[in-house]
Amino acid sequence: MSTNVAEPASKVEIKAGSGDAVESFDITLKVRRFDPEISDEAHWDEYQLTMYGTDRVLDALHRVKWEEDGSLSFRRSCAHGVCGSDAMRINGRNRLACKTLLKDLDTSKPITVEPIKGLPVEKDLIVDMEPFFQSYREVMPFLITKGHEPSKERFQSQEDRERYDDTTKCILCAACTSSCPVFWTDGQYFGPAAIVNAHRFIFDSRDDAGDMRLEILNDKEGVWRCRTTFNCSEACPRGIQVTKAISEVKQAILTRSI
Ligand code: SF4
Ligand code: F3S
Ligand code: FES
Repeated sequence: MSTNVAEPASKVEIKAGSGDAVESFDITLKVRRFDPEISDEAHWDEYQLTMYGTDRVLDALHRVKWEEDGSLSFRRSCAHGVCGSDAMRINGRNRLACKTLLKDLDTSKPITVEPIKGLPVEKDLIVDMEPFFQSYREVMPFLITKGHEPSKERFQSQEDRERYDDTTKCILCAACTSSCPVFWTDGQYFGPAAIVNAHRFIFDSRDDAGDMRLEILNDKEGVWRCRTTFNCSEACPRGIQVTKAISEVKQAILTRSI
């Protein structure tokens, strides 16, 4: 570990195992560290690394963890933008570490990596996701139907399926909710991710509990807390139009026309 900031440099090297010449460059990774067993205060550590054009922020974090400091803690699983476990604040913006190429960042300055905001930090980049999942559970994110079990599949037209197509893409990464200024100041707010997942079922023609979900979100901590700041839409790694989904839920509450 070093606190010196290296001048960025780029050179052609053979990446181990690849056999091909690939461009390497030097970066400084600046990571916000916190370990409640050592100190109540967080601090920044800097790491000088030589990385490659195809490397992502997740690769840089792995390099630090595997080669420099095994105590560095962060969540990750799929490494391909599917599981949603590695949302973090990279250069001040919420992103997935596994989907953020280092070459797309300004490597002439230290690349900062912090935990997402608004949720309690447990260690380094790991936050307590329980408040986030509590709101998710409260909107009943599963199909609820009335009447008897159908004897064949539940049909749905292509047009009806398209009404909630966008919100099916959510991977529950929390990048939206933890970038919302309302959520930062009011942790009771359901937050955009819970509303997105309610939207997915409210507008599903096969579901019979849309009214219940609308009532849940017609709460002082529900959709009316949204101030249409669009941070959530900008943060979503799946490109979901989060603010539009929230507006559609607001509209449905007003008209009860789902
Ligand atoms: Fe993540 Fe987007 Fe789902 Fe929010 S809406 S939790 S940003 S995938
Ligand atoms: Fe927050 Fe998104 Fe609304 S950032 S205020 S939920 S538009
Ligand atoms: Fe699964 Fe990044 S590690 S989304």
